[in-house]
Amino acid sequence: MSEGTPAKASDPAGEMLWGFWYPALRSDQLHGRKLARAMLLDVPLVLGRDAAGKPFALRDICPHRAFPLSFGRFDGSSVECAYHGWQFDAHTGQCRHIPSLTADSKLKCERIFAGSFPCEERDGYLWAFMTNPEGRAVREAERATPGDSTTPSPVPELPTFSPGYKIAQLWAELPCGVDQAIIGLMDPAHGPFVHQAWWWRTRHSIRDKAKQFEPIPNGFRMSPHAPSANSAPYKILKLITGEPATTTIDFVLPNQRFEQIRAGRYWLSSRTTVTPIKRNLCRLDFAAAWNILPWFPIVSFIIHVLGPRFIRQDTEVIEKQGLGLKYEDRMMLVDDADRQARWYFELKSALLESRRTGEPMRHPVAGPVTLRWRS
Ligand code: FES
Ligand SMILES: [Fe+2]
Repeated sequence: MSEGTPAKASDPAGEMLWGFWYPALRSDQLHGRKLARAMLLDVPLVLGRDAAGKPFALRDICPHRAFPLSFGRFDGSSVECAYHGWQFDAHTGQCRHIPSLTADSKLKCERIFAGSFPCEERDGYLWAFMTNPEGRAVREAERATPGDSTTPSPVPELPTFSPGYKIAQLWAELPCGVDQAIIGLMDPAHGPFVHQAWWWRTRHSIRDKAKQFEPIPNGFRMSPHAPSANSAPYKILKLITGEPATTTIDFVLPNQRFEQIRAGRYWLSSRTTVTPIKRNLCRLDFAAAWNILPWFPIVSFIIHVLGPRFIRQDTEVIEKQGLGLKYEDRMMLVDDADRQARWYFELKSALLESRRTGEPMRHPVAGPVTLRWRS
């Protein structure tokens, strides 16, 4: 991709990235001993919590004849397929029992596995580590190679900065591939046109911006800076805290945008993830924590009333863009306003390349750099 030239929307290859944690479900979508279905990276999953409350995620396909395990029973430790009653360990997927076998059968049922994925619960989500499409257990010999993508890193965490805080979650389905959704997430130029509102900004409030960026592992950071002068919520924050606010925004592969706003002892921390459900469907999950005026629900109002409005505006744009993308999937990445999108594609290729060769990842952002655009 060179400057200003059309690039395939699918660069590099529209690939979904394996070897990362993705949010499969919100914690409140899973009740008691019930099994719940989810889809991540085109893989159907069945999730649950064992008798001790520890979550698990299996590929929702019985290895016998592909019957979805989610129709079966769960006793707190094994999932039983509803078709022929095979039982599988909920965490490892190992087959424990095949009811049709006679006592003298030579078949070693413990050698049969349903696909399984490491699963953990954090920040109000059940996360699954998407090792590979089959949910194949990774043997020790395959682990710990350079560029290793099979050993789960720690589950992503929403940073918090003091013991007491409020939290909120928002979500929406985005009818597009993961690359379109992610570059939409980091696109600064659509604000004045898509997110117009009298209290926020209009197309006439567009002005010159200069932001400092720096490389971070697997991503890049918009260095701490004063929030946009033309953003009303930040003005409110300054008014109530009496302190200047700074904001820091990180993008980290495969799909996470972290934003932290600090003003004196007050803070607001958010994480937005765009998770590929299928090739042409993503889910946006927004999680926020804050300690700003817990007794005066201004932040809660901004998040629960204005947040869904913003998300709806982005969803509508993505739906309409889909009408055009059916006929033309090339796109242009133009100058500094689209630099972050370009970095995203370059990060993705660099990661895939490093996994292929076993060499350390070559970071596309060489050092601190200032980007300039109007928004
Ligand atoms: S299909 Fe699951 S036990 Fe036969
Ligand atoms: Fe937007």
